[in-house]
Amino acid sequence: MRSRRWVAPEFGGPEVLQLVEEDLAQPTAGQVLVTVRAAGMNPADYKGFAPGPGKDASVLPKTVGFEVAGVVEALGPETELASGGGAVGDAVLAFRIYDGYASRVLIPAADVFAKPDALDFPAAANLLLAATTAAEMLHVTGVAEGDTIVLHGASGAVGVSVLQQARELGVRVLGTAGERNAAVVRRYGGVPVVYGDGLEGRLRAEAPDGVAAALDAVGTDEAVDVSLALVPDRQRIVSIAAFGRVEAEGYRVIGGTMPDSARFRDAARSRLIDLAARGRLEVPVAQTFPLSEAPRALDLLAGGHPGGKLALLPQADDL
Ligand SMILES: NC(=O)c1ccc[n+]([C@@H]2O[C@H](COP(=O)([O-])OP(=O)(O)OC[C@H]3O[C@@H](n4cnc5c(N)ncnc54)[C@H](OP(=O)(O)O)[C@@H]3O)[C@@H](O)[C@H]2O)c1
Repeated sequence: MRSRRWVAPEFGGPEVLQLVEEDLAQPTAGQVLVTVRAAGMNPADYKGFAPGPGKDASVLPKTVGFEVAGVVEALGPETELASGGGAVGDAVLAFRIYDGYASRVLIPAADVFAKPDALDFPAAANLLLAATTAAEMLHVTGVAEGDTIVLHGASGAVGVSVLQQARELGVRVLGTAGERNAAVVRRYGGVPVVYGDGLEGRLRAEAPDGVAAALDAVGTDEAVDVSLALVPDRQRIVSIAAFGRVEAEGYRVIGGTMPDSARFRDAARSRLIDLAARGRLEVPVAQTFPLSEAPRALDLLAGGHPGGKLALLPQADDL
């Protein structure tokens, strides 16, 4: 079975990616062959093959893409999806995988779930990396009903997922965003606060009694400094992007490759799919691109203000 997929033959920017053709085997027991209808896109995609200190060249050529949505093309013998059952033609989503920028993927059935009808393919393909990260941020900081918290990067993909999951918990979120994205924060139940000079003062004005926790989905010095100023207990500050200062400052960081995070996120998938199926967890998609335009889409994502999720859509001639 032919698949077209993007690989990074060397470390670099999106321009190093190459679209290659491969033959996939038929699925064996425990595997599913999925025709990709949409590949989800995350900043981790371009960070994974970006050059940098300590990068291990033995991972090259590196495939790209942690999540997809598509249709079951074949199942291995006696194989069930993670959500149970499964048949050729079923609409599914898969996370976490490693080669999602492709027209077909052969993946462990344990990572494949029935797609909720409430999400179209581009949204479903972008649900779980952001949502499981958001769930873990709320979990490790012990956020609970009645709390007021600060969320840096509230208009981003992880941010809007935190906002919606916090709303389910009965939590008030002061969400930082650029000026033009205040409406996004409000739409998902947060109180928008524009980032930039004077951020700490603006947040204090919104929460005169203080905030219980700070969740950083941006990683700027401003986000870290303001979090440290507002939240005395460093175990109640978590960042998913500011790894450089953690040793000096002692706040928490989490990442999908850390074993505890991977376990938590795997276990959270079904609950979050169910939330989405009930219309309680939306995935705003800003733009879709043909699979062949992955480098252009990654350039937009790397700009830091994509305005919502991006997805790659394989076309008929990719199959
Ligand atoms: N450790 C993990 O497990 C993990 C998991 C997922 C993501 N991440 C990381 O978390 C970050 C966010 O991911 P995402 O998928 O949510 O990205 P995204 O959808 O591209 O969102 C980026 C967000 O950053 C905000 N932003 C950009 N520049 C800013 C600045 N100078 N100050 C404050 N906010 C700024 C944007 O706000 P405006 O557009 O409103 O300006 C936007 O809300 C990325 O660095 C990603 O690699 C880590």
